[in-house]
Amino acid sequence: MTYDIDALRAQFPALREGIAHFDGPGGTQTPRPVIQAVSDALSAPLSNRGPWVAGERNAEAIVVEARRAMADLLGADPAGIVFGRSATQLTYDFSRTLARTWSPGDEVVVTSLDHDSNIRPWIHAAEQADVTVRRAHFDPVTGELTPDAIRSVLSGRTRLVAVTAASNLIGTCPRIAEIARAVHEAGALLHVDGVHYTAHRLVDVEALGADFFTCSPYKFLGPHHGVLAARPALLETLRPDKLLPSSDAVPERFELGTLPYEFLAGTRAAVDFLAGFDSAATGTRRERLTAGYRALERHEETLRTLIEKGLGTLDGVTVHSRAAERTPTLLLTFDRHSAPDAYRFLAERGVHAPAGSFYAVEASRRLGLGDAGGLRVGLAPYNHADDVDRLIEGLADFLRT
Ligand SMILES: Cc1ncc(COP(=O)(O)O)c(C=O)c1O
Repeated sequence: MTYDIDALRAQFPALREGIAHFDGPGGTQTPRPVIQAVSDALSAPLSNRGPWVAGERNAEAIVVEARRAMADLLGADPAGIVFGRSATQLTYDFSRTLARTWSPGDEVVVTSLDHDSNIRPWIHAAEQADVTVRRAHFDPVTGELTPDAIRSVLSGRTRLVAVTAASNLIGTCPRIAEIARAVHEAGALLHVDGVHYTAHRLVDVEALGADFFTCSPYKFLGPHHGVLAARPALLETLRPDKLLPSSDAVPERFELGTLPYEFLAGTRAAVDFLAGFDSAATGTRRERLTAGYRALERHEETLRTLIEKGLGTLDGVTVHSRAAERTPTLLLTFDRHSAPDAYRFLAERGVHAPAGSFYAVEASRRLGLGDAGGLRVGLAPYNHADDVDRLIEGLADFLRT
């Protein structure tokens, strides 16, 4: 297994600025092949999709290749890949479409661990359909959201459970496959927010048991848009609002307006870039992705351990990321200092670790942090051990102020 961090970093023009980026959970920096693919898509003839002229064929090929790439990344069917503006927009769209299949007195389940984009759309849809919202809670001490916590709010009336595969605030990865079995036994559908998870773990939507799975390429080195994966047969049963002349085929039925072709070209390039993380890997793209994610996990695990060791040498720091299975995303608060002050202090030293609750406001409240959250230190594929040194030294200096 080969993860060449220096060669990898050389592919990111933005890193030349010298900033130590710990803001990956908010969005990653972009490697050259992705920038090039976006530029190439716009430099060649590009028209509405069709078969006759180069511009039409280019647009068609970009869409087909992007669906294939995302299907390889998620272990999904290309015919079940839906592109949208963002994960938030896709979740809102699907919540409204699914709400049409609900009856008054039905129930939906949301969790306090989730980003608000996997809570509020379901609450709004439930209000419209006169459906009851039930809440599953994580344990603020351990950071765990257990399958039992979900089971305890399931009933014969549950129609949908919305849960995150990984918390963008504290990194917790709930046991989604076990949750999926319970949800399906109750006769409900499972909507999984994979936006944070996909940046750190190889997704297999079938193995996870997700009926709907969202992610956002800008969290894994790609452009700013959203993706939803579902089984094509399930998508066939759903009737979203759509324009009369637009295609009624799956998945186009769910894609409102013209797709952002240049972003889709960038997303295909991002998936190919992830597939190259283990430079010794061979085989199909899915096989190379499997090897690439294994190499990435090992790299991130090494750096996370370094950060945790470094934080252990500092006084007055609380680390709220404690779940047994978690991504390398740490939420910190300080006994005698505020997180926004730490954010500013580090920023002046070229270390970017933002403070906030990052739209996971219910999780922040449950942790006892109100709406303020804490300082979030998140790793991305291009982080280097030197970044970690700068972070720990910066925090040590900050705590002495
Ligand atoms: C876990 C999680 N879910 C959902 C979102 C929203 O994604 P998007 O910006 O694509 O709507 C984010 C963005 O930060 C996130 O971290």
